[in-house]
Amino acid sequence: MKTIIKNGTVVTEKDCIQSDVLIEGETIKEVGAGINAEGAEVIDASGKLVLPGAVDVHTHMDLDVGFTRACDDFYTGTVAAAAGGTTTIVDHMAFGPALCDLWHQVEEYHRIADKKAVIDYGFHGVLQERADEEILSQMKEIADKEGITSFKLYLTYDQMLSDRDVFAVLKKAKEEGLLIPVHCENDGIIFNLRNRFVKEGKTEAKYHPKSRPAEAEAEAVNRMLYLAEAAGEAPLYIVHLSSRKGLNEVLAARERGQAHFGVETCTQYLTLEDSLYEDPKEGLKAIMSPPLRKKEDAEALWKALSEDMLDVIATDHCPFTFKEQKQRGSEDFTKCPNGAPGVEERLPVIYSEGVGNGKITLQQLVKYLSANPARIFGLYPKKGVIAAGSDADIVLLDPEKERILTASEMHGAADYTCYEGMKLKGDIDLVMQRGKVIVRGREFTGAKGDGRYLKRGASSLA
Ligand code: URP
Ligand code: ZN
Repeated sequence: MKTIIKNGTVVTEKDCIQSDVLIEGETIKEVGAGINAEGAEVIDASGKLVLPGAVDVHTHMDLDVGFTRACDDFYTGTVAAAAGGTTTIVDHMAFGPALCDLWHQVEEYHRIADKKAVIDYGFHGVLQERADEEILSQMKEIADKEGITSFKLYLTYDQMLSDRDVFAVLKKAKEEGLLIPVHCENDGIIFNLRNRFVKEGKTEAKYHPKSRPAEAEAEAVNRMLYLAEAAGEAPLYIVHLSSRKGLNEVLAARERGQAHFGVETCTQYLTLEDSLYEDPKEGLKAIMSPPLRKKEDAEALWKALSEDMLDVIATDHCPFTFKEQKQRGSEDFTKCPNGAPGVEERLPVIYSEGVGNGKITLQQLVKYLSANPARIFGLYPKKGVIAAGSDADIVLLDPEKERILTASEMHGAADYTCYEGMKLKGDIDLVMQRGKVIVRGREFTGAKGDGRYLKRGASSLA
């Protein structure tokens, strides 16, 4: 089966060129002007942008947080992703039972994702509580057998690793060419502030950001950068950078010449602010970690993106329903499940706010949402680019259309969006995965279970 996308503007990290795209089966066969493809089905993309399917390397589908689970499973969450132009996810595993080995969650995640996902998916492994010989040797074993080449660790939460174990993991990662994504927040600061607020009865949503200040992020980012350097320039990936202070640590490391790390920020830290926490009821919707920050923080992150100082824009998609699940925090923010939806909103919001307002270029949009995440997580050039030989994962975006984001049009299981009422320029017309159209307008036309598990290769940072 042949398809040709004609007369569109094909966007890559480097170029924006009027080209046709010829697809044979699941793969892009040719990209160029005036391709003759007799017998091919024609999709007319006149006036449209032809973008590589977006890659979201930070989602939490079906995340088990002990007392509840994220409301999107691998079906509803990937339908939402597809509707938002994301054709690949790399999902972050939940913690397993205390002290479990690394295989426990790998097996659990195959069980919960299998036959559900509608787009291609991979997993990051999760390191919790210990990094002894058993765990360190399983990292390599799992990379070889499962193509899981990144293992996340946390510097806060009960399952966090000690600096001793963090260093051992980084050494191992360097030896084996594996990537270590890290949740950077200082646990001591957060533990003390949360306890103090609760003791003083300061339990409304507005105390959530106060209990996780930017200094907690900056200290942890700084520590990780130096630990990774001391471990022989171990491959490091800082997830969900949210603050100017955290960013300053990243910029200082770049200035020193450190080049073995990548940094991700997320849609919400670029486009939302901590004033959302002022309303004690509505504020629960935005309880996530790290918390939303101030306008100056978002401005600093956009500036860094415009100067190519960050690497990825992801989502940390981790939705809970407002009517039920988020209400656990109605009397005490520390009881609220942390996380918010975002996988469907990312491409339209970043296109409109970023490209539409001249904060980043179209090429940078493709770099941050598709090419870099694919490259850093060992999926490039199969994913993340429109080029001969790559998977035909393609988004047609109409830059002239306008829309107002609203929860009733979203495809996930959450009953709200943090971006309710946001006026957007640009809208998705069509999404294709491996040559098959899976979204037309707002309609999902794909099928449950069509997503394939991706064994990933080495990171570009390793
Ligand atoms: O608040 C968030 N980000 N929830 C998801 C779990 C995590 O900490 O990444
Ligand atoms: Zn996360």
